[in-house]
This record gives sequence, structure tokens and C-alpha cells, in this order.
Amino acid sequence: MTRAWRLLTPVVLLAAVSLPAPAAVLAQGSLNVYCSVQAEWCQAVANEFQRQTGTRVALTLKGSGETLAQVTAEAANPKGDVWFGGTGDPHLAAAEQNLTVAYKSPNIEKLHEWARRQAEQSGFKTVGIYAGALGFGYNPELLQKKKLAAPTCWKDLVKSDFRDEIQVANPNSSGTAYTAVATIVQIFGEEEAFRYLRQLHRNVNQYTRSGVGPIKAVARGETSVSISFMHDVVTEALAGFPVKAQAPCEGTGYEVGSLSIIKGARNLEGAKRFVDWALTPQAQKLGADSKQFQVPSNREAQLPPQAPRFADIKLINYDFAKYGASAERKRLLERWEREVNSQPK
Ligand code: F6P
Repeated sequence: MTRAWRLLTPVVLLAAVSLPAPAAVLAQGSLNVYCSVQAEWCQAVANEFQRQTGTRVALTLKGSGETLAQVTAEAANPKGDVWFGGTGDPHLAAAEQNLTVAYKSPNIEKLHEWARRQAEQSGFKTVGIYAGALGFGYNPELLQKKKLAAPTCWKDLVKSDFRDEIQVANPNSSGTAYTAVATIVQIFGEEEAFRYLRQLHRNVNQYTRSGVGPIKAVARGETSVSISFMHDVVTEALAGFPVKAQAPCEGTGYEVGSLSIIKGARNLEGAKRFVDWALTPQAQKLGADSKQFQVPSNREAQLPPQAPRFADIKLINYDFAKYGASAERKRLLERWEREVNSQPK
């Protein structure tokens, strides 16, 4: 499925967020925000920042890999000010390529260690705003009809029973899917991982553009199983769909969803103000208010009770420095394209 909601034009979204600002708030120009979380959260962030500061926010909604591609393509003539959300690896790659600028927000010290580490690792060119663990989503009703047992381990997904039953996104456009590739490489070692990915390929009915596409397809009963961030499964379950989340038995990777200021930002002061604001507990609450249940990075932000508990999930020691490096990212994506995506089923 395509990420239709992410294709809304900035013009339409600008109109949608043009709420009247409180009289006391003076107009503070405008801010172009590239947003890689789900639309409801992007919209809430735009509305609230605009309401509080008078800064008009124009949103462009795209996945993590797609936004990195856009920021790279626009490097000579940047159009965005801020990149909000999306997996941390492409934000680190952007930092390394000098596509984003260093900013040490005074609020960084209020963040969990994993979010501060993301900032320190990039020379403060990005910072963590949330975390989320990777897992599977499945539709128990569909599995029952097909007499299939719910998958509990990465190894289950390559069984022939699951032929054409699985959806995952394309790791070029989607940070979720890149996290999956990097996780499988870290768990099994690279050669074994690519053997695994080729076997998985036979069971995948579609590589979607967007990371949330597969769990939305599971929710609608279009496919039985997805590889998804577990918080995205919770969102669909709370919307009333028959979906369940599973943490893989071998262990799993996670994301540090990130926030960066784009180099050449036309409204640099506004971008810095936005970063300061986005790191506050009040701004981070907008995620749960929009029914998105990542772990917020501010230590004082409340962990939504619906958020998957990291303590209950076997997490690997995901190597962000290695898998966020642009050369490694490019190499793995090219290998995936050559040895997996271009192969017949
Ligand atoms: O918005 C949900 C979410 O899963 C985020 O947690 C994550 O950063 C983002 O989507 C990744 O989207 P994509 O896989 O499309 O890059």
C-alpha cells in the first residue's frame, strides 16, 4: 500500500494547521517541518507549536529513508527547516554527511541516556525524541482461518507455511524495514542474515513504501503477519482491529526516533525553538494523545500505559554508530537490492 496520507501536499497541510494563534502570540514566521511519524502526531505537533508560538508550520510527511533522500537531493538549495521523527539511523547518516546542523538544546540534559547518546554520537546534529522496539504484528483471526500458529521467533517467518503471508516495508524508503535488516544482520551475522532474508523474500507478498503499511494491511485482513514496530501494532489494536504484537524470541532491535535541524534552514531561530519545545514533556505527550505509543525521551514525560514495555522485550545491543553510518547503510541496501529484492520468488 502507498502512504497516501504522507503524500498530502504541504500546501494542503499548511491550510489545515492555520488555526488562529492566541492574540498575545506575535507571528514568528513559518517553519517547514519534514515529519516521519504518523500523520495524526505530525498534525498535532504542527497545530500546538503554531498555537503556542505563532509560527506557521508547513508539514511534509514522508518515511525516514525517503526524507533522507529528499534532504540529500535538496542539499544545494534546502527547503526544510526541521526533520521530526523517523528512525535514528538515517538521521545519523544525515549528520555524518553534514546535511544537518549541530544544536545543543538546553533540554538535552533532561533526556534519557539513550536519547542523549544519539545527540553526543552525532556531534549534536540530531537528538532522540522517542524509542520503539521492533517485532511482529499478526492477525489472529486470519491465522486461525489458515490454521497457522502465530510466529514467535524470527526463524518462524521463513517457514514455508508463511508463503505469501508476510508484509514488510522496503528498507530504502522505510526506516522500520532498514532497522529490520540491520537487526537480522546483528542477530545472525551478515552471511546467515542474507540467507535468511532471501528465504523471507519467498514469504513476502509485498514490500511497502511505508513502515506502517504492513501492520495496517494486517489490521484490514489483507495479510496475516507484518514486521513492524510494536507500538504501531498497539495503535491498530486500540483502533479496534484484530491484531496482536509479538517480540521475537531471539531478541530484537529498536529505534531511537530522532529530530534534526536541516543545514541551510531558512528559519534557524524558529528551528531551534522547535527543538527546545519538542524535547519538553508537554510536547512529547502529543504522541500518546495521537494514539502513538513510543517511549518518550524526556525523563519527566509519562510513559503511556499502552506502550510496549522495554523490560519485557529481549533487546539486542543495537549498534547505532555502525548501522547509522552512511557507507554501511548504502552497502547493506545495495546488497539487499541485489541479493534479495531483485531475486525471483
Ligand atoms: O510513526 C510510526 C513509526 O513506526 C515511527 O516510530 C518510526 O520512526 C517511523 O514510523 C518509521 O517510518 P518509516 O518506516 O516509514 O520510515
